[in-house]
Amino acid sequence: MSLVVVANREPLRQERGRWVPAVGGLATALLPVLERRGGTWVAWGEKEADAVPRLAHPPEAPRFTVRRLHVPAREVTGSYHGMANRVLWPLAHYFLERVELRRAFYAAYQATNRRFAEAVLEEWTDPATPVWVHDYHLMLVPALLRAARPGARIGFFWHIPWPPPEVWQVLPWTRQLLEGVLGADLVGLHTPEYVANFLATCRTLPGAVVDGQRVRWQGRTIRVEAHPIGIDTARFAQWAAEPRVRERARRIRRMAGTPLVVVGVDRLDYTKGIPERLAAWERLFERYPQWLGQVTLYQIAVPSRTRLPSYRLLKRLVDEQVGRINGAYMRDGWVPVHYLYRAFTPRELTAFYLAADAALVTPLRDGMNLVAQEYAWVTENGVLILSSLAGAASVLPEAVAVNPFDVDGLADTLHEVLASLADEPGRRRWDARRAALKERVAALDVHRWAERFLASLEGSPVTLAGASPG
Ligand code: ADP
Ligand code: G6P
Repeated sequence: MSLVVVANREPLRQERGRWVPAVGGLATALLPVLERRGGTWVAWGEKEADAVPRLAHPPEAPRFTVRRLHVPAREVTGSYHGMANRVLWPLAHYFLERVELRRAFYAAYQATNRRFAEAVLEEWTDPATPVWVHDYHLMLVPALLRAARPGARIGFFWHIPWPPPEVWQVLPWTRQLLEGVLGADLVGLHTPEYVANFLATCRTLPGAVVDGQRVRWQGRTIRVEAHPIGIDTARFAQWAAEPRVRERARRIRRMAGTPLVVVGVDRLDYTKGIPERLAAWERLFERYPQWLGQVTLYQIAVPSRTRLPSYRLLKRLVDEQVGRINGAYMRDGWVPVHYLYRAFTPRELTAFYLAADAALVTPLRDGMNLVAQEYAWVTENGVLILSSLAGAASVLPEAVAVNPFDVDGLADTLHEVLASLADEPGRRRWDARRAALKERVAALDVHRWAERFLASLEGSPVTLAGASPG
């Protein structure tokens, strides 16, 4: 069955003449789903939109179409760089001091959301095809589509944390945004906690009635469900088995030159806890100098949202930290932190996962965090150290849970994990937990995630406005 996906970001980007998945959890997760099902992906086309407004992918044997929307530069500034990235992103991740409220942001956001809705209505030729709208860039789109097609099936997925209503009180536009989302039949979030927060926020909306996991609103019933997203397990398994990927993993270990290797992989975003992680790495050597020359950290960070001052500032901070740590501790050819500030292909990331004895996934807040699942799935003898403030913690209980703000605690945990990896019997202590994690990741697989969400969407009774609420 075909599908219309609506997301701000395109699923693919071109790198040195090749198509690779766009960076970020949403694109990497949904791309294989659309490749399998076929359909249309409506997205902001950035600079490409006018030159190539439509793209068949993959070019040699097209499975789906990308419809690229032109959004005027000024509107992008207000809508994407403003409302999405300076208001909703920090708000949802509990960084309230970073929220910049400006009327112009919201006005641009409304215009962009209308633009998306109009493009979807053009693409959506068969009204029986479900439409699946994604994330905080497009909260107004479900209601705009509903107004045009009252009987359609519309799903909405929120990929980041949904904070409690007290946090939403900070925004002057919470009511309008919520009304926008409630244009959907089914609202999906990653965890039961986010579902509870979403329902609690709906209770603040005058006229909305919350009944269990349903919201009755304007004569319709909207279901709210937890659907934790997963990774493309089959592809990662295939990449991990490729001889050249395995050879690359061996090269990464050789390059480190230490008995132990740790990896961190993130978009360079202030929610990811990279400065805290690096501080813990430094603290490890201060408190446990026995690790000097024994362990290497590969911190991979992909540039993200570089137009925003807060992201540029973070880059400077991380550059300085890495410089300071390496300056203080580098010796005899050993580099404590290999910092790689660029994008990698999924195969290259797989090689790092295979190479690492442990992964540090320590976001200060994260909707899910797919890197945690990717590492847990690919690693053959490694340990996942995971922030308890990531959605992934609720689906991966066998990971080593840490508080990412607690630098001393993180250094202590690192020391304990590294010490346990120093000999074979110690290493084997992790086998059962690693196997349990792999089962969890297998069950979360992104294709199953999409199937579950879409089955639920398709199974939902259509309640037209004015009909008796279900
Ligand atoms: P977010 O959605 O906030 O970016 P996730 O951890 O959920 O965080 O998803 C990040 C995705 O981006 C993962 O699939 C990961 O493999 C990918 N990714 C992270 N860092 C890089 C990088 N340096 N190069 C390419 N892809 C990356
Ligand atoms: C997160 C968001 C996505 C977003 C991605 C990358 O995963 O949930 O919606 O696409 O980050 O961010 P960017 O601003 O580059 O699209």
